[in-house]
Amino acid sequence: MPDIKPTTTLEEIVSLSKRRGFVYQTSEIYGGLANSYEYGPAGVEILRKIKNLWWDFFISKREDMLGLDSQILLHPKTWEASGHVSSFADPMVEDKVTHKRYRADHLIEAWLEKHPIANPPVIEAMKIEDMNKFLVENKVKSPDSNEINEVKNFNLLFETSIGVVDTASQKAYLRGETAQGIFSNFKQILDSNRVKLPFGVGQIGKSFRNEITTGQFVFRTLEFEQAEIEYFFDPETSNWEKLFKDWQDKMWYFVTQILGVDESRLRWRRHDDAERSFYSKDTYDLEYLYPFGWKELWGIAYRTDYDLKQHMEFSGKSLEYTDPFTMKKFVPHVIEPAVGVNRLFLMVLCDAYYKDEEKSRLVLKLDQKLAPYQLAVFPLLKNKEELVAKAREVYTALSKEYRVSWDERGNIGKRYLSQDELGTPYCLTIDFETLEDEAITVRQRNDASQERIKLADLEAYLQNVLA
Ligand code: GAP
Repeated sequence: MPDIKPTTTLEEIVSLSKRRGFVYQTSEIYGGLANSYEYGPAGVEILRKIKNLWWDFFISKREDMLGLDSQILLHPKTWEASGHVSSFADPMVEDKVTHKRYRADHLIEAWLEKHPIANPPVIEAMKIEDMNKFLVENKVKSPDSNEINEVKNFNLLFETSIGVVDTASQKAYLRGETAQGIFSNFKQILDSNRVKLPFGVGQIGKSFRNEITTGQFVFRTLEFEQAEIEYFFDPETSNWEKLFKDWQDKMWYFVTQILGVDESRLRWRRHDDAERSFYSKDTYDLEYLYPFGWKELWGIAYRTDYDLKQHMEFSGKSLEYTDPFTMKKFVPHVIEPAVGVNRLFLMVLCDAYYKDEEKSRLVLKLDQKLAPYQLAVFPLLKNKEELVAKAREVYTALSKEYRVSWDERGNIGKRYLSQDELGTPYCLTIDFETLEDEAITVRQRNDASQERIKLADLEAYLQNVLA
C-alpha cells in the first residue's frame, strides 16, 4: 500500500479560505461562533456548482429519480418515529476544570494515536460503559490536561418552539437529517406521481446537529447541507446487493469523474456488526483522506423498511406500495446514499491544493466545472484608458457566457498569483500589442504557460478549452 498523505494541512486550507474569500468564520466580528462557517464569494460559487452537479447527475438525468424540498421544521413526532429523540446522541465528557465538552470517542482516538497499543478497541463499536472503562483505565485527560467527568449521552437534535408559548406541545426540532422529510412525504409522492418501484427521491437541504467537537473547519458544523437519496425497492424482485453496488459505483464516479478528485485519497470502509445501526443490513462509508486523517465523506446504508414502518406506526397512516401488476401490497425497502455538501466542498478544496515550488506559487487545480471564475480579464495597466476600454469590451462580451473576474490592481504577476489561488483556469491580458494586432495573451493556470490568441478566434478557443 503506497504511503498516501493528505495534500496539505488544515491550517493552510483555513488560511487560503480566509485570504481568497472561500470560507469565513461565522460572526467573526463578535468573536466567532463555534463550529459555524460562512461561504464567501468564491466559496459559494463552488458550493452551488457541487449542488448543481449532484442534482443534475442523481436527479435530472435519471428517469427513476424524483426531487423534493421538504421543511427544516417537521412535525415533532417525525423525530420520535425516526428514533432521533431517544437515541440520536454522541458520547460526551466534560473537563472538570474548564467545563469544556468533548466527544469521548474523539478523546479515545487521539489517545490511541499517541499511545499505540496491540489490539486497540474498535471505537465505533464501543458502548458508553466501554468508553468509561477505557478512559478510567488509561487515565485519559482532557486536551487541557485536566480530569474529565464520566461519559454521558448528549442528544444532537436542536430544540426550538413554535409560537409564543414555550410549552411541551409547541416543541419542535430543527431537522437532524433531510432523510425524514423524504420518508414522511412518501405517501404524497406515491399519490401524486406515476412512479413504479424501484425509484428514488433525493433532496438537498440544511440539517442541524448540536456538535460538540470543534476544530474540524467545515467538516463538522452545527448547520450543514446534506444531499440525500432514498432509493425504494421491492426486496423480493430486486437484488439489494446489486442495487447497493450500483449506488456505490455512482458515488465513486461522481467524486472521481464529475468532481475530478484523485482516487488515491478515497477508500471504502465497511461498518462491522457492532458499528452498524441495528436496522441496517449493510453500511459503507466512502472516506477521503482529509488533512486530519481518513474520515467519512459519504455514507451508504441499506435501511430495510425500518423508517417507513416507524412512520406508519407513529402516524397511523399506511405507507404501503401496491404493485400495479400483481396488486401485492407491501412496505418498500430502501438504500440510502447520504452525503454532506460541505464535506464534498472541503474535499474538493484539499484535493485541488497544489504548491508549485518551482514557480513559487500556490495553485488551486480545481476541475474547470468547479472553479469560482472560469476566466479573468486584465488590462495590462489600469491608467491607460485605451487598454482599459479594450479589456472592458472583452470582459463584457465574455461575461454573457462565462463567470469572469475583472482585476486591474497591482502588477500583472500578482494578479496571476491571486487568480491561481482562486483556481481560475485562464487569465486573459490586454496589452499595448492588442491595440495593434487584435490578439491577447492567454495564460493557463496549471502550467502558467502563455500564448497569443487572436480576438477573432477567442470564442472558438474558449469553447474548446472550457468544454
Ligand atoms: N440520513 C442519514 C444520515 O444523516 P449521517 O452519516 O449522519 O447519515 C450523512 O450523515 C452525511 O452528512 C455524512 O456522511 C456527512 O457527509 C454529512 N454530515 C453529517 N454530520 C455533519 C456535520 N455535523 N457537519 C457536516 N456534515 C455532516
